[in-house]
Amino acid sequence: MDLGLKGKVAIVGGGSMGIGFGIANRLANEGADLVIFARRIAKLEKAAQDISTQYGVRVIPVAADIRDKDESTRIVQAAIDAYGRLDILVNNDGAPPLGAIDTFDDVAWQKAIEQNLFSVIRMVRSALPHLKASGSGSILNISAISAIQPIAGFALSVATWAGLIGYAKTLSMEIAQYGINVNTICPGYIDTDRLQKVFAAGTESPETVRAKLITEIPLGRIGSTADIANLVALLVSPAGSYITGCTIPVDGGLLRALR
Ligand SMILES: NC(=O)c1ccc[n+]([C@@H]2O[C@H](COP(=O)([O-])OP(=O)(O)OC[C@H]3O[C@@H](n4cnc5c(N)ncnc54)[C@H](OP(=O)(O)O)[C@@H]3O)[C@@H](O)[C@H]2O)c1
Repeated sequence: MDLGLKGKVAIVGGGSMGIGFGIANRLANEGADLVIFARRIAKLEKAAQDISTQYGVRVIPVAADIRDKDESTRIVQAAIDAYGRLDILVNNDGAPPLGAIDTFDDVAWQKAIEQNLFSVIRMVRSALPHLKASGSGSILNISAISAIQPIAGFALSVATWAGLIGYAKTLSMEIAQYGINVNTICPGYIDTDRLQKVFAAGTESPETVRAKLITEIPLGRIGSTADIANLVALLVSPAGSYITGCTIPVDGGLLRALR
């Protein structure tokens, strides 16, 4: 099925590895030109080169820490300078540290807000005029299943991503009139470097943690970055344009709730 993404321009956060890299590959495979960003330039440039070579699209790497308030303007401008338009914004990057709530001071909370909520608010603010101009734009946020089914120890993420979900729903209502859809995907456990770090953070071996988790997932496996990227490709494409304001788990059935 041709999703109609050929010639579209997308910004993909955290495009150097993990879920962002999977999304960048999937959109490139559909023929979209990209701007990808992350902090470490060497890894980012290699990712851009690899994706461009494999799919024959243009991929521009922009080294940026998304917690820095000025970077959203620079990232969006890179897309406009290179392509003259912007159709798709994928908000994805890292996440705040894990830990007990009473161990986090104001600085830790402030950083978490910058990373999970303010980064999206600023990226949207910078991108919106260009998405409106494209007439059929799309905004897609990567959050986590913990934002709707909280996990002890994940407070910095749970609290800030709950705010993101409220922001995204409101945004979807306000900008639907411009033909722009807004959705948030909540991944369950997805095989990336970050998940390896989560597995290694406790007292049990990563192999034991992984095996125990798999028994809790109805589909019986950890997800792949392609599991996320396949849904992203649909939601940001013309084929998914009637879907907006949704918060969608992609978790192998992990979420125990009726909605
Ligand atoms: N993997 C999972 O199981 C899972 C489950 C639920 C939700 N999530 C969420 O999905 C997102 C992506 O996770 P992942 O597993 O793909 O992580 P990952 O493998 O660690 O990749 C994170 C990407 O984001 C970039 N990044 C991190 N902090 C950044 C910052 N401050 N500014 C700009 N770029 C930044 C990283 O590059 P640099 O380090 O070079 O900046 C990298 O490209 C995270 O928010 C994570 O919490 C993941």
